[in-house]
Amino acid sequence: MIDEDGYFGEDVAERYDRSSGPSFQPDVIERTVQVLAELAGGGRALELGIGTGRIALPLARRGVPVHGIELSRAMVAGMRAKPGGEAIGVSIGDFATTTVDTRADGAFSLAYLVFNTIMNLTSQEAQVACFRNVAAHLEPGGCFAIEVMVPELRKIPAGQNIVPFHTSPTGWAYTVYDTVTQDATCHYVEVTEDGVGSARSVPFRYVWPAELDLMAQLAGLRLRDRWDGWTREPFTEDSAQHVSVWEKPVS
Ligand SMILES: C[S@@+](CC[C@H](N)C(=O)[O-])C[C@H]1O[C@@H](n2cnc3c(N)ncnc32)[C@H](O)[C@@H]1O
Repeated sequence: MIDEDGYFGEDVAERYDRSSGPSFQPDVIERTVQVLAELAGGGRALELGIGTGRIALPLARRGVPVHGIELSRAMVAGMRAKPGGEAIGVSIGDFATTTVDTRADGAFSLAYLVFNTIMNLTSQEAQVACFRNVAAHLEPGGCFAIEVMVPELRKIPAGQNIVPFHTSPTGWAYTVYDTVTQDATCHYVEVTEDGVGSARSVPFRYVWPAELDLMAQLAGLRLRDRWDGWTREPFTEDSAQHVSVWEKPVS
């Protein structure tokens, strides 16, 4: 059942930061924040889908003023409960369409969308709208950074449409791909020792690097960098994810 917080309601927000996944490791967060701080170049940063402040809080601690757009009040409440969380401005709404008033503090030098969150927009139209919305918030010379996985279609055996990505005695998770529509749904199933189960499904739209470049072009942005990740290793045919940076031309 989906509430007004989308797929990130109170139950998800409550356990979000207890994840032991790679994205929550201090060295990964440190590397991410280092690159974003350099991209911000002394200006303001806009995080789309700011969540519980996993990245925004350490970025703000480095002296980068951060503003967020976020659909889920529960996730924002999680950020507010952390040290420094009250000081970060948040606009509640859909990051594909929500406008942040920049008249008082000026436009942003950086907008960023990490942790596969571009795929939470489940139509091509919404993803294009997101790029246009970002471009409208950037100052000339400002940039937009996205961290997102490369679609895993090469892992799908012939005649099948499912890729499992987590299996344990008490839980499993898998993605069902529709290669006609580019829709993908992740299913998360957990079972306690008592045999009580819970299941959660989240819809995504997977998107290719070249398609993102075209969305950027439609929004008047151009590719500046594409790396394998926050270490700035080159993006190759073996890359499982990419960090891409597009810039808004000065004229
Ligand atoms: C995977 S979490 C990432 C949170 C945070 N950026 C991080 O890196 O930890 C995705 C976040 O994006 C938010 N979100 C998803 N779709 C959104 C949309 N269309 N507009 C605003 N927020 C959205 C969710 O509520 C959630 O907080």
